[in-house]
Amino acid sequence: MTQTRDSFHSRIGFVLAAAGSAIGLGNIWGFPTQAANNGGGAFLFVYLLVTLLLALPALYAEIYIGNQAQKNPVAALKEACQDTLPNVGKYAGIIGLCGAMMMLSFYTIVAGWMLAHALSAFTELLGLTSISQWLAISSTERNLLFTPLFILLGAAIIHQGVNAGIEKWSARLMPLLLVMLIGLIIYILRQPGAEKGLALYLIPDFSQVTNPKLIISAMGQAFFSLSIGVGGMMVYGSYMQKGKDIGKLAISITALDTFIAFMAGLLIIPALFVAQEAGLEVFSNNELIGEGQLIFKILPELFNSMGNVGLIVSSCFFLLLSIAALTSTISSTEVPVSYLMEDKNLTRSRATWLVSFVVLCASMLLIAFFDELFGLVIRVLTTILQPLSCLFYFIVVGWLWNRGNKLRDKALQEGRKWLPIWGNYLRFVCPLLLSVVFVNVAILN
Ligand code: PHE
Repeated sequence: MTQTRDSFHSRIGFVLAAAGSAIGLGNIWGFPTQAANNGGGAFLFVYLLVTLLLALPALYAEIYIGNQAQKNPVAALKEACQDTLPNVGKYAGIIGLCGAMMMLSFYTIVAGWMLAHALSAFTELLGLTSISQWLAISSTERNLLFTPLFILLGAAIIHQGVNAGIEKWSARLMPLLLVMLIGLIIYILRQPGAEKGLALYLIPDFSQVTNPKLIISAMGQAFFSLSIGVGGMMVYGSYMQKGKDIGKLAISITALDTFIAFMAGLLIIPALFVAQEAGLEVFSNNELIGEGQLIFKILPELFNSMGNVGLIVSSCFFLLLSIAALTSTISSTEVPVSYLMEDKNLTRSRATWLVSFVVLCASMLLIAFFDELFGLVIRVLTTILQPLSCLFYFIVVGWLWNRGNKLRDKALQEGRKWLPIWGNYLRFVCPLLLSVVFVNVAILN
């Protein structure tokens, strides 16, 4: 077993790390792209609903399991199913671990694009125009350079342990990201065309909200954005002292994450229409051209229109995004790393390098077969694997773990009346809701 386990020193340390995991490219690249592709307001409406009804309870369940077990996700799920199905628990943990690796395999590629764009603006500022142009255009060579660079950067930080550097960094830099977002939103909303985007984003077309494709995309996006279903939040929960008020913590993380996604939508969707007004081809048949890639055209275009200041804003913005991506990859990496350390007795350093090497191989595979694999891996992870894991967490917390008595015991101890209602919600309603969505996924596929 392990030496001493890592731990967060305070509640706020946990919230910052968990929010750092949740807030990332999913909020600023994923959410606006999906919203623009799925009717804007209707998507936002369903997203908020799914977040509240399913993703928040799943986040609670995931943190709760880790916190009770004080072990890595594979061991935690095994223990949670001890009395009934220990092997099923163990394999569910391993499937989550594979999900974390899948996430890392494509996420590091997109994070590499962010790094490249940050450098592109910076080199332009220095007058190195040809380098800057090369950096701004998506290519296999650029992927081959920046994906490994990002993985290396992450590994260098993780192998030193999570607490010291990254926690303090994110506490300082994430507010800066928010300030930049607000500044950019104010700028963009004053440009011609913005009001069309604003209307599309904020006024839902309710005839669309029952569209199964939209519901599934919103659910996948909500699960991805809150980092649930791959064990990352479970590990973080296990690094926190047992018995904290997990409900409140889960609500804070969800609120922060959802707020940033909402703000990113407020920037990007109007920006798409401003760009269209300026003559750029953005939509064809109501679908974004070039899917998410387009954001990398629209944003730099927007920054360019601001002159030299724009270049500084651009390099800072993409740099902050790279950092947001880094704090997100840390929680995913921590899943296999904690498993290798605790169950396979590897040192943190060895475990980190081993995991990074496997991630590197996986991402290289994705780069080599980009058209075939990239979208597929994202879809399988967000619409199948993450929801399935969450279904399992609900079953564990509601039914398997001392047959669901833990939450009731806690309620009795603390004299809280609403906890049994919450327990029953997790036990009956959540699995049912998720299963209904799942049947739709199966039918649509
Ligand atoms: N939530 C992160 C984002 O929105 C991505 C993530 C998914 C991180 C799963 C960890 C685990 O960018």
